[in-house]
Amino acid sequence: MQNIKQYISQNKDRFLKELIELLKIPSISADSAFSQDVLDTAEAVKKSLEKAGCDLVEIHETDGYPIVYGEKLIDPNLPTVLVYGHYDVQPPDPVDLWNSPPFEPIIKKTELHPDGAIFARGACDDKGQMYMHVKALEFMVNTDQLPCNVKFMIEGEEEVGSNNLSTYVSLNKEKLKNDIILISDTGMIANDVPSITTGLRGLSYVEVEVTGPNRDLHSGLYGGAVANPINILAKMIASLHDGNNHITIPGFYDTVQELSDEERAEMAKAPFSLEAYQKALDIDSDYGEKGYTTNERNSIRPTLDVNGIWGGYIGEGAKTVIASKAYAKISMRLVPNQDWREITELFKQHFEAIAPKGVKVKVKPHHGGQGYVTPIDTDGYQAASKAYETTFGKKPIPQRSGGSIPIVSLFEKELDSKTILMGFGLDSDAIHSPNEHFGVWNYLKGIETIPYFFQYFTEMKKSC
Ligand code: BES
Ligand code: MN
Ligand code: MN
Repeated sequence: MQNIKQYISQNKDRFLKELIELLKIPSISADSAFSQDVLDTAEAVKKSLEKAGCDLVEIHETDGYPIVYGEKLIDPNLPTVLVYGHYDVQPPDPVDLWNSPPFEPIIKKTELHPDGAIFARGACDDKGQMYMHVKALEFMVNTDQLPCNVKFMIEGEEEVGSNNLSTYVSLNKEKLKNDIILISDTGMIANDVPSITTGLRGLSYVEVEVTGPNRDLHSGLYGGAVANPINILAKMIASLHDGNNHITIPGFYDTVQELSDEERAEMAKAPFSLEAYQKALDIDSDYGEKGYTTNERNSIRPTLDVNGIWGGYIGEGAKTVIASKAYAKISMRLVPNQDWREITELFKQHFEAIAPKGVKVKVKPHHGGQGYVTPIDTDGYQAASKAYETTFGKKPIPQRSGGSIPIVSLFEKELDSKTILMGFGLDSDAIHSPNEHFGVWNYLKGIETIPYFFQYFTEMKKSC
């Protein structure tokens, strides 16, 4: 790649300015009050792809938010890279905890980002990482170095479960046909420890409702004599883990793919300091499933976590009341080869079975998806590895992540192609949290590394 460093240093202010403009639009897919902003963001992404050099860019309608499709096809005999990303973002709540407004991006230095980081909702997940690909395309087109065909598919419903994407993908198999899928929507270990994500966890997300008496009751007149749905819900949730922090749902672990001792030993080589981890989170101990390390617990092992719990009186002061209903939202992170529909069903059966007399229980499945692992002996992985080696000066470490991008397993099934997860964020970038940010260095490093992936992947495909 000629002049990539020079091109970036000459254009970096504009690259930042353009991303900042995109980050100003609050494309919150979960909240219908922002639907026009989500649509405006799709338009902005479309324009950016046209400007960057795509020959065709279309907004494809779905039953939900649209998909921005772009392409630059230079030669049918050359390989095709399909870039996937998402332009929607998580709600910024709790807004009070942001040090600057979530949709007024600012650049500030941090300990881990001495060159500055862009603070805004979506900076890292995923507008910033998606936009690296738009700028990498601009570079390759402007300097006449695009080595292969490229397609873009940027969606607007990732943060709410990509419900309309599987229909879209199965209806557009020909259009989306590719040799490799490239996604930057994950992270890496540290700026001086590059890594490539080789696995994602699956997900089953459910909501539960426990109903006791038919109305809220005076907790003195009725307390002790009727089942209190909040007490019961707390008990039921507590029973979902045993003393070793194993999940107690019968059959939950039946299909879990166990790693060999060699694989676990390989994983343990990745640099990690439990002390630094605890310090960063201000916790005085690790916690989790017995027999596994922190890095295993958050990547190769399944989990069950309450994400929200409510019921009864939570306003100011005290109100003596036994609520009629209690609720919780629960996520289960799954690993290969757990099937998310099967796990959802096992959860439902178990949760209904453990409900004591005196309450009624409802389990409402939300969304889910399969986990993913990718081998490293493929052209795609090797090309990515070489690209990182070129720009970071170090071979990247393959690493399984704990997060989920359910569409990845679907791509493999529907389009029969592998996905390469080239993420440039850090775990500490606070995605989904207040003060989300993305390092300026990481943003520019991504723009620098992506064109090398295109080059090496095309070379490898040509030589076989
Ligand atoms: N980009 C994240 C997933 C991610 C982040 C994977 C970091 C690996 C490392 C994605 O936008 C996301 O938030 N996914 C959701 C699942 C989705 C179905 C709502 C998640 O993991 O909670
Ligand atoms: Mn994301
Ligand atoms: Mn996300």
